[in-house]
Amino acid sequence: MSDAPTKQKLWGGRFTGKTDPLMHAFNQSLKYDQRMHAVDIRGSIAYAKSLTLVGILTNQEEAKMIEGLKAVGKEWEDGVFVPQEDDEDIHTANERRLSEIIGPLGGKLHTGRSRNDQVATDVRLWLLDEVKATESNLKALIRVLVERADNEKQYILPGYTHLQRGQPIRWAHLLLSYALSFRNDLDRLRQLVPRISVLPLGSGALAGNPFCVDRELLAKELGFQSVAENSLWGVADRDFIAEYLMWSSLVMVHMSKMAEDLIIYSTAEFGFVTLSDAYSTGSSMMPQKKNPDSLELLRGKAGRLFGNMAGFMMTLKGLPSTYNKDLQEDKEPLFDTVDNLSACLSIAEGVIATLTVHGEKMRAALTMDVLATDLADYLVRKGIPFRETHHVSGRAVALAEARQCQINQLTLADFKSLHKEFTEDIYKVFDFEASVERREAIGGTSKKMVERQIAVLRSALED
Ligand code: ARG
Repeated sequence: MSDAPTKQKLWGGRFTGKTDPLMHAFNQSLKYDQRMHAVDIRGSIAYAKSLTLVGILTNQEEAKMIEGLKAVGKEWEDGVFVPQEDDEDIHTANERRLSEIIGPLGGKLHTGRSRNDQVATDVRLWLLDEVKATESNLKALIRVLVERADNEKQYILPGYTHLQRGQPIRWAHLLLSYALSFRNDLDRLRQLVPRISVLPLGSGALAGNPFCVDRELLAKELGFQSVAENSLWGVADRDFIAEYLMWSSLVMVHMSKMAEDLIIYSTAEFGFVTLSDAYSTGSSMMPQKKNPDSLELLRGKAGRLFGNMAGFMMTLKGLPSTYNKDLQEDKEPLFDTVDNLSACLSIAEGVIATLTVHGEKMRAALTMDVLATDLADYLVRKGIPFRETHHVSGRAVALAEARQCQINQLTLADFKSLHKEFTEDIYKVFDFEASVERREAIGGTSKKMVERQIAVLRSALED
């Protein structure tokens, strides 16, 4: 094991002993927080400007400092930034490099600022950018579901409760039910933004900024909607991360439900859909296999993202006020969730876009018993109470079962033996298309109501 670096650390003034090498590595976050390099520079440029306004920097110093910060930023962008052993995190790395480029003037940048308000600012800025990307990924998934629904309104399949055949529904209705969950996720994501978009910078280490920097101007400069009203809160609040992780977990719950349905529907036993080769994989042993790995991973990632959320909540639990190093543990779960969620949304979009749908298999799965509710409703329309008609219909199902036939194969005499109100027109009930078309109240599976949902979702995608 090599020794920890011996050079003066940023905070080394009061130290005489060396850091244990394992501790040095343990403490270092640069390997993952370097992805915030651009927002860290943005925050520093804004801060430099605010220091000029309160007389800490002259205009020339500010210009030199901004030029230096931009040069550091460019090194990151060009992939030529050389991290040093002593760079504890992205903040120390950027400041160290700034001072190498512009000299001792670099040492003025951190006046009144702490890494505590700096890191909180960086994560918020970083996440705000990511939220925009997430939003567009989510919209793309909703769009593909809506487009498919619009193109495939003709397919009817059994709708299931308890995974038992229940009533006929349109395939489009099912797709739109997924889209609706994701539309609500889109709303919820937008509702998070005002709570992410709060400026901590100018909170200092914990007590506030003694040089009276104009925080409202800083917020404006950095595009924040508001300013943290309490410095203790400003350096410590990570609720916006917890919320984002909770939000992602919920998205993944929706994702896993859709994945689970499609996994079942893609089995040979159901055969309603076939996944495209692009989103399937084979088995190393069984040559015939085509596995829905994409969907299984979508389902599996739900557990991982929930884990990130639950783990981070445990990190927050019981922390004393203001900044504690535990909070450095916010980044890995956040980055992991953002990365995996983005992959999941894109994969789901691809899976849905390329799926083959087998309308005839869906049709073949429709047995007459899924019209038993419609049979009961037939008598309801003749004035018989539903509780009674439910029984009559149940007896018709039992009779057909005993005769080993479908309920529509019972004779009129059979029906009349079950209830005197049955007449010849009973056979019109046994029509799947008519059944779905009767569900014409808002939210139903009729064509008109499916079209209504499509319009609602399309307009949600517009804004
Ligand atoms: N790397 C740290 C983090 O991510 C930055 C803040 C460090 N602050 C401190 N007082 N040690 O939380």
